[in-house]
Amino acid sequence: MKTEISFILNGSEVRVAVEGHHRLIDVLRGPLRQTGTKEGCGEGECGSCTVIIDGRAVNSCLYPALEVEGKSVTTIEGLQGPKNELSVLQKSFVEEGAIQCGFCTPGMIMSAKALLDSNPAPSEDDIRNALQGNLCRCTGYVQIIQAVKKAARQLKGRR
Ligand code: FES
Ligand code: FES
Repeated sequence: MKTEISFILNGSEVRVAVEGHHRLIDVLRGPLRQTGTKEGCGEGECGSCTVIIDGRAVNSCLYPALEVEGKSVTTIEGLQGPKNELSVLQKSFVEEGAIQCGFCTPGMIMSAKALLDSNPAPSEDDIRNALQGNLCRCTGYVQIIQAVKKAARQLKGRR
């Protein structure tokens, strides 16, 4: 039996009918067509499905869709500006060569965003801790950490 839920997705209210066994990623990539969020392991191990729920980075492959009722969800699609321009963090990943195949990138960026939103001046350890649940099989992490540091510096300059 389906239940209608409503929540805020990237700043707009959405309503969607979900089954009890649906996970948030099923709803995002399915009826809501937000395919930027990727499913890798489906078991909470790789972080490629990371989204932000009420300010916290969450693995959407483990999050029951019914529990998102009334909450605020941000996905990678919610980061661009009004003219689809990339956010500072997204640009920084591009500029630092922190993207190769790109599969981990949306989840990596959402974890980094949750960090920078709560801690605008993170140490390298803070960045490593925030990204420890996000696996990348391509870049070796150095460029990813550089990208987050660069975004933090640039965002600081705007405050
Ligand atoms: S797909 Fe969710 S943690 Fe891997
Ligand atoms: S860029 Fe390929 S998995 Fe990270």
